[in-house]
Amino acid sequence: MKIAVVGMGYVGSVTAAVLAEAGNSIYAVDIDPMKIESLKNGKPLIHEPGLEEILQANKERFTFSTSYEGIRGCDICILCVPTPNSSGRIELKYVLEAAKRAGEIKPGITLVIKSTVLPGTASRVASETKLTVVSNPEFTSEGRAVNDTRHPNRIVIGSGDSGAAQMVADLWKFTASPVLITNNANAELIKYASNSFLATKISFINEIANLCEKIPGADVSVVAKGMGYDRRIGSEFLRAGLGYGGSCFPKDTQALIGFASDMNERLSVVEAAMTVNSAREQRVLDLCKSALGGNLDGGKICVLGLSFKNDTDDLRESKSLTLISKLEGEGAQVRSFDPIVKGNSQKNHCDTLKECVSGSELVVIATEWPEFKESLTDFHGTIVDARRILDPGSVTKYRGVGLYSG
Ligand code: UGA
Repeated sequence: MKIAVVGMGYVGSVTAAVLAEAGNSIYAVDIDPMKIESLKNGKPLIHEPGLEEILQANKERFTFSTSYEGIRGCDICILCVPTPNSSGRIELKYVLEAAKRAGEIKPGITLVIKSTVLPGTASRVASETKLTVVSNPEFTSEGRAVNDTRHPNRIVIGSGDSGAAQMVADLWKFTASPVLITNNANAELIKYASNSFLATKISFINEIANLCEKIPGADVSVVAKGMGYDRRIGSEFLRAGLGYGGSCFPKDTQALIGFASDMNERLSVVEAAMTVNSAREQRVLDLCKSALGGNLDGGKICVLGLSFKNDTDDLRESKSLTLISKLEGEGAQVRSFDPIVKGNSQKNHCDTLKECVSGSELVVIATEWPEFKESLTDFHGTIVDARRILDPGSVTKYRGVGLYSG
């Protein structure tokens, strides 16, 4: 098929790449000329494992442009533009603008909304553009987006038009994943309910982690492992730590709560998940404080990992960054290192892990990069493992979230 993909961020570029790999020809649009130039050269501006390889291997299937014009030659247009938070509500202007422009260039084109939008958005877009609108939310996670898009757990398609829904289902047939075809509102809500549920799961285990810290012998990673064997619970998203960050969970939970409250409904479970999450940095700060004898002032602290999780360079809503400013607020001298985020705005950012760790009294593991596991065996200060990736016995002095330490 000839597919237009609008918005070349994390979702759009990976969607375009995987659809090209499946044999489609892609007209990729973004308003940012730098992004488009870079993609033309097969180089994404973001770090996403496997993406560059697909772009290079399928070069002839792509046309990258800052103009909407080429949408005229496409059968379908997939919107992957952002829906940022604006005072707790989602900002729809990019979706509406892109939809209108696509409809003006090619009246009658089938519009697919992959951007995360609240229930009612597809029907609003349809009435404003007179286009057939299919909701097709994405469930890919950064750092694993290529694999998640090639092999999704499920494909969710929402539309009032069964022909258009089938066309989108056919597009993703190569994944051989289960397909749920429903109406737009259900598809839109599935996305928010899924992210909110996962966020809740994380906050749940983080509260259990708090409890474990008070129970002699308790360790949240063992508790989570035991819980995860139960198929009804499942082992994923039960990693206790610094809490969830990123461009999705914080924004989506907040948007869903706001949306519900507009309809006089209170989502108290999701609210609690947010409250627990916002206390995580303080919790880790307290661990650092107690490891340094109750005072952080002047403490030489090395924070490992800056992005909101490993395998991405995305700093949006990064818990690590908030932790750093809290530590600095208490007078600590903080240095930081990240395997892929370089030269960022952090004052004392180091180019190597060795440089960052040397001379520090305390190391905090703030992002779950597996390579941190092997690199700290020679460090003899205290390690605060805020992501529980180390074996406590592998280092000299260890403090971990969710681990009783007397
Ligand atoms: C999330 C969802 O996992 C995707 O399914 C969804 O498509 C995406 O949002 C989106 O809406 O676009 P993402 O935010 O990229 O993906 O990353 P996750 O792997 O979900 O991690 C989110 C945060 O939770 C990270 O800060 C991570 O460190 C934290 N986390 C995750 C935990 O603290 N514990 C866990 O057990 C899992």
